[in-house]
Amino acid sequence: MSEPHAKRNISTTSILLNADRGMSDEFSASPPLHQSSAGIAQDADDFYDLAATPMNDRFYARYGNETSSRLAKIIAELEGGEAGMMFSSGVGAISTALMALTRSGDHIVAQNSHYMGTTELVTNVLAKFGVEFTTVDQTSVAAFEAAIRPNTVMILLETPVNPTMHITDLAAVCDIAKTHGIITFCDNTFATPINQRPMEFGVDIVMHSATKYIGGHHDLLAGNLTSSKALIEKIWDMSLNTGPICAPFNAWLALRGIRTMELRVARQNANAMGVAEFLEDHPAIAQVYFPGLKSHPQHELATRQMSGFGGLLTFDLKGGYDAGTAFIENLETVQNAGSLGGVFSVVIQPAVMFGGRLSPEQLKEQGIAPGLIRLACGIENTADLIADIDQALG
Ligand SMILES: Cc1ncc(COP(=O)(O)O)c(C=O)c1O
Repeated sequence: MSEPHAKRNISTTSILLNADRGMSDEFSASPPLHQSSAGIAQDADDFYDLAATPMNDRFYARYGNETSSRLAKIIAELEGGEAGMMFSSGVGAISTALMALTRSGDHIVAQNSHYMGTTELVTNVLAKFGVEFTTVDQTSVAAFEAAIRPNTVMILLETPVNPTMHITDLAAVCDIAKTHGIITFCDNTFATPINQRPMEFGVDIVMHSATKYIGGHHDLLAGNLTSSKALIEKIWDMSLNTGPICAPFNAWLALRGIRTMELRVARQNANAMGVAEFLEDHPAIAQVYFPGLKSHPQHELATRQMSGFGGLLTFDLKGGYDAGTAFIENLETVQNAGSLGGVFSVVIQPAVMFGGRLSPEQLKEQGIAPGLIRLACGIENTADLIADIDQALG
């Protein structure tokens, strides 16, 4: 499964450990934390330059900070992009990109399923400002093409996606977008740049909730965008007005976390595969959704496009809602928390998490069955993880 990543000739390990060596200060082995709200200008000419240069990270912390720039550079190298920028959260990254690149009268094509915050941004917030949208079945390339209108400016992608773990054919959709001159934007949070690099299939902008696998330790909130220099500068320009920049301390934590991402993700991939195979044969389980299983309807596409299947899986308990809540209560080491991508395994029951926001009909539309469970595997020993799940199902 190394094919999708063949284009880059520097190893992931080398990027994670060495990419910013040239930027290190000469006095410390680990990168410094620039916890300052402003830089000091040397004279009027210097002040003029600091204030006028796009993406400047030494002028004022809302314009950028050196710790965030260092992290953005590493992620851009991993994704194969020209430039990058860090945000206060994943949602801060998505909303700023959408505000920067769309205007009233434009049209966006999105998937039927996205991270809930993305769906709400497109259907509630942007719609309020006159940006139209169409949502499509992400498993159908033809559906993306059919949804394109003369005023379509962007196609929003996310693969694999919650909770169905459906896959989008990135190369095919990007080919269509390019023939129409439409920007493609892909949320790569679930896959991570270790398992999937959307730009190699033609995606223009890659987004991460760095809160998840990039930080990796359940202790920070951050977002990232990687793209061409021209698009990142345009988005940065919008960010000056909306203020979603990543705080230096969060960037510093994520900078430490990212060094071990390759190792963590390898274990998380293995844990998810082990648990998925175990659950597929379990009598209490109606269905397991995981792109690494041969039973996943898009397993072949996932194998072509990803070099690992990720640490997330969902599964449906035959006993429905009550069986789901009992299962979670019975777990001893896996915790019930609404995030993912960190060193500890965490689990949620989406019908509980979204029950207060969505009607039963809306839950059904989103593919959220009452007994559906989402498990985000951590880096525990695989046998220990399966043992906890086994006893909780019992
Ligand atoms: C796939 C995906 N994208 C985006 C986000 C939003 O990221 P954040 O919570 O960092 O704003 C999340 C958060 O759960 C997510 O799972």
